[in-house]
Amino acid sequence: MKDIELNSQIYYVGVNDRRTDLFENHMELPNGVSYNSYLIVDEKVALIDPVEMGFFGEYLAKIKAILQGRSVDYLIVNHDEPDHSGSVALLAKEFPHMEIVGNAKTFAPLEAFYGPIDNQHVVTDGETLCLGRHTLQFFLAPMVHWPESMVTFEQSTGILFSNDAFGGFGALNGAIFDDQVDIAFYEDDMRRYYANIVGKVANPAMKAIQKLGGLPIKMIAPSHGLVWRGNPGWVIGKYSQWGQHVGEEGVVIAYGSMYGNTARMAEIVAQGIADAGISAIRVYDVARTETSFIISDIWKYKGVILGACAHYGNMFPNMSRLVHDLGHFKPQNKVFGLFGGMSWSGGGLLALAKWAEGAGVTLVSENVEVKGAPSRKEDAERLYKLGQTVGHAVKDNH
Ligand code: FEO
Repeated sequence: MKDIELNSQIYYVGVNDRRTDLFENHMELPNGVSYNSYLIVDEKVALIDPVEMGFFGEYLAKIKAILQGRSVDYLIVNHDEPDHSGSVALLAKEFPHMEIVGNAKTFAPLEAFYGPIDNQHVVTDGETLCLGRHTLQFFLAPMVHWPESMVTFEQSTGILFSNDAFGGFGALNGAIFDDQVDIAFYEDDMRRYYANIVGKVANPAMKAIQKLGGLPIKMIAPSHGLVWRGNPGWVIGKYSQWGQHVGEEGVVIAYGSMYGNTARMAEIVAQGIADAGISAIRVYDVARTETSFIISDIWKYKGVILGACAHYGNMFPNMSRLVHDLGHFKPQNKVFGLFGGMSWSGGGLLALAKWAEGAGVTLVSENVEVKGAPSRKEDAERLYKLGQTVGHAVKDNH
C-alpha cells in the first residue's frame, strides 16, 4: 500500500472500520468510521493517537512498513476512549522503550482500562516536545470529549492533531483529505457525529476552538474522518455554527405510533408545515430510525415537532429514548410543538409536555391530543394548525 503523507515525514497510518455495526454499541454506522493515527518520523519518532484494538494487526503493519526497523520513541495519547486507546498496551509491548505522553488526567483511566503503564511522560498545557525538525505542543481540551482530552499542535507545519474535535463518522473512501472528496457526502455523517458526541459538550468544544484561535493552523488532522488540508476554515465554521446552535430553516417531525393513528397525525402536521412555506421537512418514525440520525437533524433545523401515542400511561417507548437524549444534548434556539394519540388511557402527550417543561424548550403552539384516529374534521384542523404555527415560527425566525 502506498504511504500517505500529510507533509514530509508526517504519515497517515489510520484504519477504516467497516464492520462495527454500532459505534459505542448504540449508534449505527452505515458508512463505517475511521480511526485516524499519524506517524512523525524525525530524529525521534512519534505516533499520535492509536486505534481501536481490533485493528491492531493492520495498524502495526502500516507503522512497520514506514519505520523500516526503527522504533517508536513517543506515543501521544490525546484521549483515553478505547476507540483510540485500545491499542496502547499492545504498542507498549511492541516498542518497550516508547514513552507514553499524556497529561495529569490521562494515566488513571488508561491504567483502569489496560493495567499498569510504564514509561509515563506527563505534559502540561502549552508544553512542547522536540522531535528534531518537528516540535509538538500540547493543549488541554477538557471534555472534548472526556476530561483528559487534549490536542497536539505541530509547530513547523501548522498541523493540529485535534483528536475527536473536527471529526466525523464515515470511513475514508480512498482519499483522506477534504480537497480530494465530495464533502457533501461526508457532511451528514460529520454533523451526526458532532450532534451525538461533541454536541453534548458543545460549550467546552467552543472554548477549545477559541483557545486554539491564536495558533497558525494550516491543517486539521482529527482522529475520525477527513483531514482538513484544503479548507480547514470550513470545518471550523461548521463547528462554530453548530456550537452556537444556529439552526437552518426546516422542521423535524418525530413520532411514535403503535397502530398508525399517530403516524396519520404526523402526516397532517407535515401538511401544515409545508403550507407555511417550509421546504425542508423531515419525518421520522422513532421506532424505525435510530436516535442518532434524528438528533442530528434536530441539531440542523430550527423547528421540532414531537408526537407520541400513549403507552401504559406514558409515551411510546422509543420516544422516551429520543427525549432522554435530547435532554442530554440540550439543543437551543429551537421552536417546538407537541401532539399525541390516545385510546383508553392517554398519557403520551402528558409525558411529552412534562418533559418539555423540564427541558425548558419553547412551545409555540397549543399541544394537540387526539383520541383514536385523526378522522374528525376538528382534530385534523388542530393538527394542521399545529404544523402551520410551528412552520410560521420557523419562517419568522421566532
Ligand atoms: Fe473517538 Fe471520544 O473517542
